[in-house]
Amino acid sequence: MTQQQTTGGDVRLTGISKTYGSFTAVHPLDLTVPQGSFFALLGASGCGKTTTLRMIAGLEEATTGTVSLGGRDITALPPHRRPVNTVFQSYALFPHLDVTENVAFGLRRRGVTPVKKRVAEMLDLVQLGDFARRRPHQLSGGQQQRVAVARALINHPQVLLLDEPLGALDLSLRRRMQLELKRIQTEVGITFVHVTHDQEEAMTMADTVAVMNGGRVEQLGAPAELYENPRTTFVANFLGTSNLIEAEIVSAGTDVVVSVGGGTLRLPAGRCPAPAPPGGRLLVGVRPEKISLDPAADADPGDGRNRVTGRITEAGFLGVSTQYLVESPAGKALQVYEQNTGHRRSLAPGSEVVLHWDPAHTFALDAAQDMEAGVQSVQDTP
Ligand SMILES: Nc1ncnc2c1ncn2[C@@H]1O[C@H](COP(=O)(O)OP(=O)(O)OP(=O)(O)O)[C@@H](O)[C@H]1O
Ligand SMILES: [Mg+2]
Repeated sequence: MTQQQTTGGDVRLTGISKTYGSFTAVHPLDLTVPQGSFFALLGASGCGKTTTLRMIAGLEEATTGTVSLGGRDITALPPHRRPVNTVFQSYALFPHLDVTENVAFGLRRRGVTPVKKRVAEMLDLVQLGDFARRRPHQLSGGQQQRVAVARALINHPQVLLLDEPLGALDLSLRRRMQLELKRIQTEVGITFVHVTHDQEEAMTMADTVAVMNGGRVEQLGAPAELYENPRTTFVANFLGTSNLIEAEIVSAGTDVVVSVGGGTLRLPAGRCPAPAPPGGRLLVGVRPEKISLDPAADADPGDGRNRVTGRITEAGFLGVSTQYLVESPAGKALQVYEQNTGHRRSLAPGSEVVLHWDPAHTFALDAAQDMEAGVQSVQDTP
């Protein structure tokens, strides 16, 4: 209890790790989930998300470290004695019980009353009042998911753990349920720890996202903070898309000037990972939507913007935007997203173009990293 501070009901993981034989699924991890927050663990398959969640739930014994809740060490408590409930991907509803009895289950088991009133409140919360007498097989996926959430919340856990709870749903229902879950969380104010491999899901729902890779948390922060200021190539590529360009430092002051494929680019020193000595190497990054693109003939970006000339190799018209691939001395396949504002038609492959952007929208990463880390080769939204 010495370190309790004003933690209230924070979940605190201290040096928690899990090894299976010689394989380390989760490296020693320190993590605080503030009480009442919506916290997402985000990462690719096999990175240790479920294992971390199961250690919080007590379903998996930690190899090292401790789990505490509101300053109380719960590492040694069995799952049913922790004030924590889990919603699994396969909702695991009781098929022979109707919605009411599924939701009432936890109350009946613990002998808590009044059952009827509490179940009714819970069904209101998840907007299933009209479905109280249906069995799970008479419900859609999204409705079953809400029953699973209601069944867990009725126990008044301090923390609700959700392991890919939306994984079984199709994309549009998934998007709706994300908003729904977020609404429920805001309404009940309970801490949610949500595991997902879908970056859009994590960013839409969570106050704080921990990006996991290979059993470690690579970066943790608010979605916009992670997106705008990725600190590793994995985070830069896994959260959205980044253009990463190999660069050599020319000079360093308030701005750092780097040379890339013949030209130079500029960025604020504060967006570089460490002091940048001339001659050193960096990976310079810029998001595709931060780049403007103009036909080479009429391009005059001027005013200190970063500029790169190139040639369009692919143009994909998506309605709301056009996504271009541009071949340039700075990179063979720079990506540019141009919003369809109607100011001109999409440019065709083969067009000579100038890409330009605000130096402040440029970030830099340590060059001793794999540029391709975290790149999702196919649009792998399930
Ligand atoms: N009982 C076990 N024995 C050995 N290895 C295991 C065991 N459980 C999990 N692992 C391994 O630990 C790693 C992390 O697994 P975990 O289930 O936490 O991944 P995950 O991030 O939840 O992935 P997914 O998104 O696919 O669910 C994986 O490489 C997995 O193969
Ligand atoms: Mg998992």
